[in-house]
Amino acid sequence: MTQLDERDGLESTEQAVAAASRGAAPYRANPYPVYACLRESAPVCRLSPPHGVETYLITRYDDAKAALTDPRISKDMYEAIDQYHTIFGDSSIALDDNMLFSDPPKHTRLRRIINSAFTPRRIESLRPRIQKISDELLDGCSTREPVDLLEKFAFPLPLIVICELLGIPEDERSDVQKWCAVVARTGFSKQDKERLAVAEGALRDYFAELIARKRKTPSDDLVGALIRTQDEQGAMNDGELLSTLWVLSFAGHKTTAYLIGNAVLNLLTHRDQLRQVLTDPDLLANAIEEIIRYEGSVENATFRHALEDITIRGTTIPKGALVQIAVASANRDPEKFECPDNFDVRRPGVQSAHLGFGSGPHYCLGAPLARMEMQLALTTLFTRFPAIDLAIPAQEAEWLKVPFPAFRGLEKLPVA
Ligand code: HEM
Repeated sequence: MTQLDERDGLESTEQAVAAASRGAAPYRANPYPVYACLRESAPVCRLSPPHGVETYLITRYDDAKAALTDPRISKDMYEAIDQYHTIFGDSSIALDDNMLFSDPPKHTRLRRIINSAFTPRRIESLRPRIQKISDELLDGCSTREPVDLLEKFAFPLPLIVICELLGIPEDERSDVQKWCAVVARTGFSKQDKERLAVAEGALRDYFAELIARKRKTPSDDLVGALIRTQDEQGAMNDGELLSTLWVLSFAGHKTTAYLIGNAVLNLLTHRDQLRQVLTDPDLLANAIEEIIRYEGSVENATFRHALEDITIRGTTIPKGALVQIAVASANRDPEKFECPDNFDVRRPGVQSAHLGFGSGPHYCLGAPLARMEMQLALTTLFTRFPAIDLAIPAQEAEWLKVPFPAFRGLEKLPVA
């Protein structure tokens, strides 16, 4: 029996490439056999995605890590505007004038400014608030009926935290969440693009108005701090500021919310691992890194494109083609991680090895905040509800079905 025969009905490399082209559908519950097949037989492969733009997928750890830092692979959307317009529609990229979608020197300038406001002290000062929000949200879960932990806890927690950090008032948060949800779930059809344009227009208007309001009445929050930096140093224009608020609010809650869901599911289905963490709380930090490796909430890094012809393992990615880096696949590469399909909360060295927060210049700005939120969320949840269990069989857990799997997360997580 070949290895392919053992892989969940995957019969050929072509089938794996076709599945990856459609976001690993129909393998959403377990996309890892698709990635294992590609790592082995087509580690740099040309996809045929529904959006029709020439796209290559990188699945091996070494190649992924190198690609994340390769200056020939650009993140500047304005350099490849036609391709991105084809995928997302003409109106969408105005929100992307930020560090996530730029190259040095612009990236370096923007990241430096945000770093000056997103300080470790500002992050650390959130700790008591995150604890209090976790407690309050879990008060609402104290019922004998099953609850959807994503709806009641995993989503509201990081949303409230990032909104408080930025200074988005309570009664305006559900709109921001609603528009972000449209962006996160967008597909490539005409209707999807229309819906996307409406949501992004609403987000642009909202953040423009928020900046105007906080310029009039200065505030101590992150928006206030960024406005002051902008006024004092003139180092960031209005479009960049607006787009930065957007990326912080978007990246700052979806990723963490899905990761809380993935963490709880995996700990509840690996009871021996959960027991180890509960008996030795010092293990939690490493367990969180292992969760990010094993079932992180980012499946593919954001789009990049080739600035010149680039040959990797014999395959040439032509200039202008899009590059997709499957960090979820890299994190299961047996060349890098021993027994990669085992979930092991004691795995040595995982924090510095996994690519779940990216790598290189675009390494996640919010990683310290995400780690703190995860620690407090999981500790509070398992301390308050030691008998927590899934309310459905684990194999019935519904994974996000999106045409482009940027995120890996659950639709719902019913627990009792
Ligand atoms: C970048 C993952 C939480 C803000 C990234 C990247 C990844 C990532 C993989 C690199 C993207 C790429 O290179 O294409 C995650 C995960 C999180 C998380 C798994 C939670 C568990 C957060 C939070 C914030 C945040 C809480 C903000 C408060 C950002 C920003 C960037 C980024 C601004 C772009 C950095 C740059 O381009 O220099 N994140 N993130 N992230 N993340 Fe996160």
